[in-house]
Amino acid sequence: MKAAIYNTYGSPEVIKISSLEKPLPKHNEVLVNIKASSVTRADTMMRQGVPKYGRLFLGIFKPKNRFLGTGFSGVVESVGAQVTKFKIGDAVFGEKLFSNGSNAEYLCIAEDLVIDRKPNNISHIEAAPICDGFLTSYNFLKDIANVKPGQHVLINGASGSLGNAAVQLAKVMGARVTGVCSTKNIDFVLSVGADEVLDYTKVNLNNVTHTYDVIYDTVGKLSYKSVRNLISSGGMFMTPVLSGKILWHMLWNSKKVKFAATGMKNTKALKCLLKDLIHLFEQEKLQTKIEKKYSLLDIRHAHEYLETGRKVGNIVIVNL
Ligand SMILES: NC(=O)c1ccc[n+]([C@@H]2O[C@H](COP(=O)([O-])OP(=O)(O)OC[C@H]3O[C@@H](n4cnc5c(N)ncnc54)[C@H](OP(=O)(O)O)[C@@H]3O)[C@@H](O)[C@H]2O)c1
Repeated sequence: MKAAIYNTYGSPEVIKISSLEKPLPKHNEVLVNIKASSVTRADTMMRQGVPKYGRLFLGIFKPKNRFLGTGFSGVVESVGAQVTKFKIGDAVFGEKLFSNGSNAEYLCIAEDLVIDRKPNNISHIEAAPICDGFLTSYNFLKDIANVKPGQHVLINGASGSLGNAAVQLAKVMGARVTGVCSTKNIDFVLSVGADEVLDYTKVNLNNVTHTYDVIYDTVGKLSYKSVRNLISSGGMFMTPVLSGKILWHMLWNSKKVKFAATGMKNTKALKCLLKDLIHLFEQEKLQTKIEKKYSLLDIRHAHEYLETGRKVGNIVIVNL
């Protein structure tokens, strides 16, 4: 089978398409014939080996795990002897955290990890990126902020993968949503459900007088210090982007400032969140937004585009 691998940290040039043996599922694993997989910011960071302290886990001098890609959608081709939850032919999707390998033609994953049946009403292309934007933002909005109907949520980076998912989810949760994006993405952010939009090229958030119950900075571009006056009493500022500053503020104000790495959450909790998302997709309350599709052979270009920081919604590798 073909798989995207990287033997050293670096630019997209380090990505190679390698021919490997088709993997064999262990007793508790399913073998998935991958139809589509995601390419995310996290994948580009792992490829670059940044932030550098991440190499303590990823491998100090070179990546311990050479395989790229976490999110996937495909069809179960074979199952290990002890698998009970899935059978051959099931359409499944999920994410292979830490061991990676979804940017390939096949992967093996234990049935108890982050994998579930794909909703029938969405394609593999739409399912593959769900565990990036939707799963991460749902963890923040539901488990961390516990957003309630009528609350006002400000989402910075509302045009990105996490951002547009957050806009959709916050609306489903009954919140009033203000999305922050640039001029060119205003229509997109309104189209995914934002009640109003602030154009960051024209509006300085420091001058905004309104207050919000939740500020979710999906792209890590705001400083807590500069927006803390916009947080209502009892409200919170949260971001999925780790920085020394955010850790510092969390140290002093752990109720008001939150960072979390969703992938570090226990699998049972992630699977629970995923069940809710499946239900919402089946009810057609959520929609995956795909900006660009690439073939596996063209994955370097997908990484190059991602690194521009300008992507709108998701980008997907398609094997179909
Ligand atoms: N902690 C976790 O569990 C977790 C999980 C997944 C991802 N992440 C992290 O979350 C971050 C966001 O990921 P993503 O995939 O959603 O990002 P993304 O899709 O690559 O974000 C790109 C979008 O951000 C917008 N943007 C850029 N600069 C902006 C600014 N100053 N203000 C507002 N919007 C701006 C861009 O729009 P314009 O072109 O209009 O500027 C573009 O649409 C990444 O750092 C990723 O590593 C964390």
